[in-house]
This record gives sequence, C-alpha cells and structure tokens, in this order.
Amino acid sequence: MELCIIGSGYVGLVTGACFAEVGHHVICVDNDQRKVDMLQRGEIPIFEPGLEDLVQRNVAAKRLRFTNSIEDGVDNSQIVFIAVPTPPQVDGSVDLTYIERVAREIAGVLKPGQYRVIVDKSTVPVKTGEKVQATIQRYNQNAELDVISNPEFLREGCAIPDLMRPDRIVIGSSSQRATDLMKRVYEPFQVPILVTDVNSAELIKHAANSFLSLKISYINAVSAICEASGADVEMVADGIGMDRRIGRNFLNAGLGYGGSCFPKDVKAFIAIADELGAPFQLLKEVERINAGQLDRFLKKVREALWVLREKRITVWGLTFKPDTDDVRNSVAIDLINKLVAEGAHVTAYDPKGMEKAREYSLIPTSVKLAATAVEAAEGAEALILATEWKEFASQDFAKVKAVMHTPQVFDGRNLFNPKTMREMGFAYHGVGRA
Ligand code: UDX
Repeated sequence: MELCIIGSGYVGLVTGACFAEVGHHVICVDNDQRKVDMLQRGEIPIFEPGLEDLVQRNVAAKRLRFTNSIEDGVDNSQIVFIAVPTPPQVDGSVDLTYIERVAREIAGVLKPGQYRVIVDKSTVPVKTGEKVQATIQRYNQNAELDVISNPEFLREGCAIPDLMRPDRIVIGSSSQRATDLMKRVYEPFQVPILVTDVNSAELIKHAANSFLSLKISYINAVSAICEASGADVEMVADGIGMDRRIGRNFLNAGLGYGGSCFPKDVKAFIAIADELGAPFQLLKEVERINAGQLDRFLKKVREALWVLREKRITVWGLTFKPDTDDVRNSVAIDLINKLVAEGAHVTAYDPKGMEKAREYSLIPTSVKLAATAVEAAEGAEALILATEWKEFASQDFAKVKAVMHTPQVFDGRNLFNPKTMREMGFAYHGVGRA
C-alpha cells in the first residue's frame, strides 16, 4: 500500500521503516530539512537497535523515502499517519499545537475527490480525532476523509520487535471503508486487531500507560514495606507475578519510572479526567509514590555515608532505561543533580547516554564522565547503579572493588546479587531488600 507518515520522530520513523519492511511504500514527511537530509543519507538521528539497517535496506529497495513536502506525502498515499509530538504543557495537559497545524496543512493540500484515511498515531487525549476531522473539514469543505485512531505501544530500545510483533493493534474507527484499509496495512504482521470507536482507542493508550505506571508504583510502595519489615521485594514480586491475572512484568522495584511516556501520560490522563469532570485520584498517588522513591533511596545513601558533601560518588547509568540513548526525564539524571546539589563529587558512566546528557546540559559541568565503568569507579566512596544496562551486571567486580576507595554499592535497580556482592566484600544496599 502507499502510506505517508507525517513526523519522523521516534514513533514516525520506526513505524515508517517497519511498514516498508513488510512491503508497503512509505513516504516519511518531516518539516526539519536537516533531519530529512540526514535520513536521505541513511543517517539516523536516534539510537534504536536495528533501526539504521532497517532504514538503509528499505531506502535502497525504494520502499521508503523522506521529504519535507506534506503535499507530496498526501498526494501519493492512501493513508496518512500523523506522528508528531504531543508534549506536555506546564499544567500537565497535552499541547496539541502540532497536531492542529498538521490538520490544517493536510486540509490545505487535499484535492477534491482524493479520499484519504487520516490516522492519529501520536498519543492524544480522548476526543482529539473528532477535532482533527472537524478542523480539516473547516479548512477544506471538499475534503473526503475519515479520521481514525491507531495508538502506538512501542517501547524504546525494543521498538522494532514491539512494532513487528505487537500484542495487539488497536484501530479506532467509525468508518468501515477506513477500517478495511487499515486491516490491509496490518495484514502482513499477523497479529490480533481490536476495532473500537475512535474515542475508546484514544483512551486505551492513556489507560494502558497509566496502568503500567500504576504497577510500577505499586511494587515500589511494596518495596518500602519490605524495607521496613525485612522482606524481599524481588521474592514478593515473583510470588504475586506468578498469578497469571497479575503477571510479573512491570513489577520491578527501583528508582521509579521515567522516560518520555509514563510521566507525561500519567499527568495527561489526570488532566483529561479532571477536564471531563471525572477526577482520577489514584493516579495522583501513583505520581507521589514515583517521586518519593528517589528520595527514599537517597536517604539510604545518606544513612550509609553520613555526609554527602565532598564524597566521591560514582553513578552507573544516565539513560532512563537500558538499550537507549534517551536521557530525557531520566531518574538517573535527577539523582545526579540531587547528589551534586548536596556537594558530592560525581563521576558517571553510561554506555550510550553520555553524549546527549552533555549536549542537552542535563548534568552540571562539574560531573566527570568516564570512558569505562571501571574508570568511573576509581577512588569512589560509593557506587550507585541507576540504570540496569547488562554491561554493568557483567563487570569484573574484583577490579571494581580494587579501584574504589570504600566499596559501597547502592543498587537502584536491584541488578546485582546481594549475596555475591557481600561475599566479594562490598557493603550492598538494594531497593526493598536487605
Ligand atoms: C513505555 C510503554 O512501555 C510503551 O508501551 C509506550 O508506547 C511508551 O512508554 P518506554 O517509555 O520506552 O515505553 O519504556 P518502558 O520499558 O515501558 O519503561 C518506562 C520506565 O519504567 C523506565 O524508566 C523503566 O526503568 C521503568 N520501569 C519499567 C520500572 O521502574 N519498573 C518496571 O518493572 C518496568
């Protein structure tokens, strides 16, 4: 099929590349000419395992191309996906400026008799589809279109497998014609498709991400009880996770959730619920627990080190989770800033996130960045694990211990085995376990 994706950010680019991979012809539109030029040269602006290969292969096969012209994209496609950013506003509600602008731009280039399915892939508040449809029709009375919702559930770091083999595809549509076309888009993926109305599909995205955040906050709250009682949160998570109704996924206690989705989507869902007159108090508690988790952890560090001023502290991890270079809304970054604010001398190391952390000035210039994990630990009075990269689990800990000044380990993601660490001579502190 002929498809157009407006917005070559994370979701747009991965979606476009995966659609091309299964045989569709895809035009990716972006208004940033620099990005379009880069992509045309086969350079990828983000780190995502497998993405560079996928893009280069499909560009070479002439199934994927990049342009800055919406008209080119809309003219030459049956279906137009909108995948532009929907950032949070100061009050937590969603800023729909980019979506509205794209709606007007589509209206400006749609020609009479050109039926198009306009698909909202960005995460948007319930009822946005109705507004997009009304906007396009207001600016172009002859437009023939159906606006539908098709939320994206991919995770950074495993975006390609998530997109190629998702648990489900949600299509929110009130038009059989549009639904039939969308089913053809997803036919090659051979995965379950759930067809709903537009409003429900929009709601599914916010409800799903908020529920996952709730799961994380739930286990983090349990971790506090474990610490107070001497129980082990990992065992508790295994025990409740074996109940298939609950499931073990997203029950990993740690420093709390971060990234560009969960914090934003929980806030947005709270704002949406408030606006609809159906306040969602439970989600406010989810946020409160999440914010408190880092403070509880820091308290433990203070209890062990007494005074943080002038202490040499190593932080392993900067990204908001492993296998990504994304440092936005990363708890690891918050942690470093709090340590520096208390006067600690911080040295950090991350396999992929150091460049962006510096580029966006997310950490103070006084924070040293080391070339390796072991180098980062040199002379340290404490080592804090903030992001659970596999590379950290497989370090030579005899070497790490030898270079540290005092071998104290604070494991913010419960990555290490407490018994092994203690046997090696480290003072070990995890989350929710002794
Ligand atoms: C998330 C959703 O999983 C995805 O479906 C949606 O499309 C976008 O948002 P992402 O933000 O890429 O994906 O990462 P995810 O793997 O979900 O992790 C989010 C945060 O939760 C990370 O900071 C992670 O460290 C934290 N987390 C996750 C936990 O603290 N505990 C867990 O058990 C799982």
